[in-house]
Amino acid sequence: MIWTRFEVMGVLAVPLGLMLARTDLPLTLVAQGETQFSYTEAEISFSEDVAPILEENCVICHGGADENGAIKKEMELDLTSYDALMVGSEFGSIVEPGNAEDSILWTMIEFGDMPQDGEPLTTEELEVIKTWIAEGAQNN
Ligand code: HEC
Repeated sequence: MIWTRFEVMGVLAVPLGLMLARTDLPLTLVAQGETQFSYTEAEISFSEDVAPILEENCVICHGGADENGAIKKEMELDLTSYDALMVGSEFGSIVEPGNAEDSILWTMIEFGDMPQDGEPLTTEELEVIKTWIAEGAQNN
């Protein structure tokens, strides 16, 4: 099924909105009330969930080597490790931990601007990255 960007935004906004609106509650309680997206704190792992997405879609232009061993680092952005990602691009940080909407990493993938010239990330991949940022962009 093809999702419009507005449907995608709606689906992503619901769990975040819930978490923001109910900051008085522990995240685990919010999660119990929300069965469709039942993320508890740090449910997303950088190494297991986020890094493979970047590896598959991004590092060819951001820090990885091509078949000849040449390394491309568009905008000085290296997405091959947590530490390099958190350093950011030539303009600085691309992740605002806890706040996906203010993170350039998110705004560049949200509507498919990145990967440049490639297929946009899937709804699931977008959700993983957005949740990882919302959970504090941890090195977990
Ligand atoms: C085919 C090469 C290519 C691929 C693949 C690619 N990028 Fe990029 N990226 C670029 C280029 C070129 C720029 C600078 C021009 C622009 O902003 O459009 C850029 C810019 C960016 C920026 C903006 C940095 C800043 O500080 O403004 C971010 C963030 C980014 N890319 C993230 C990603 C992510 C995440 C992926 C994978 C989902 C990805 N890119 C895949 C080529 C690529």
